[in-house]
Amino acid sequence: TDRYAVVGNPIAHSKSPIIHAIFAKATNQDLTYDRLLAPLDGFLKEIDLFKSTGGCGLNITVPFKLEAFEYAATQGRLTERAQLAGAVNTLHFSDTGVIGDNTDGAGLVRDITINQATSLTGKRVLLIGAGGASRGALGPILDEQPGKLVIVNRTKAKAEELAELCKSEIVSGIGFDELTEHYDIIINASSSSLSAEKLPLPTTVFEACELAYDMMYAAEPTIFMQQAATAGAKKTIDGIGMLIEQAAEAFYVWRHVRPPTTSVFETLRPST
Ligand code: ATR
Repeated sequence: TDRYAVVGNPIAHSKSPIIHAIFAKATNQDLTYDRLLAPLDGFLKEIDLFKSTGGCGLNITVPFKLEAFEYAATQGRLTERAQLAGAVNTLHFSDTGVIGDNTDGAGLVRDITINQATSLTGKRVLLIGAGGASRGALGPILDEQPGKLVIVNRTKAKAEELAELCKSEIVSGIGFDELTEHYDIIINASSSSLSAEKLPLPTTVFEACELAYDMMYAAEPTIFMQQAATAGAKKTIDGIGMLIEQAAEAFYVWRHVRPPTTSVFETLRPST
């Protein structure tokens, strides 16, 4: 039986074991998937132990994605998308060595384009936030060839830095006070919803918005979703689909089988 796990701190709340158990069953894969709590100063020791006892792959969550990036960069190799993301959420211990990957952005884009049936191609896209979550989304969004991608952030310099990283003339970084235009797709990659804070977004940005997407998720619509709906966004969703699709993408990296995701949505959020 092949062994996988998710490493983080804290980790008890992680839904990954439930998701991967459903994937394994649906695709007839013989594997186990556990939760690993690593001490804040003991991440490397934890992965070395897991790897040396025959573990096949790990998902990495808060706060270890940057350490996992360093680990793969020095002990193995990084995929192109992990390099651009600057973080690793999936480690693969393969016959050819350690591979550090990042499936978060791909998960976001699959959720938008497939589950929400919303194309990004040619669209005006606004990405809110300039931290790790935002950076991980850049490459996969650009692969869809949007018409325009604007990164807006509280600290404008960080938005400009991320935009610079893209080396694309359709990407720019701005501060909230510069938001005047409207956007087709608006993605909240800031951690504003964690603190239940409303973002300083003029209602005009939502005027023609077909999809407002919050990477956060909760039992109730997030503050951002409420704000977007009130301002006229046609559709608002949270990031549960991104969570499921990044897991599916990791499963695919490890097993070379793409698991069906529909039943996971039903399990994690039963419709009443
Ligand atoms: P993550 O890895 O989840 O992206 P992060 O790297 O700490 O976390 O980044 C958090 C992002 O949310 C940042 O862009 C931050 O803005 P600053 O760069 O100005 O700090 C943004 N953010 C957090 N709380 C916010 C709030 N209340 N309003 C607006 N932006 C917020």
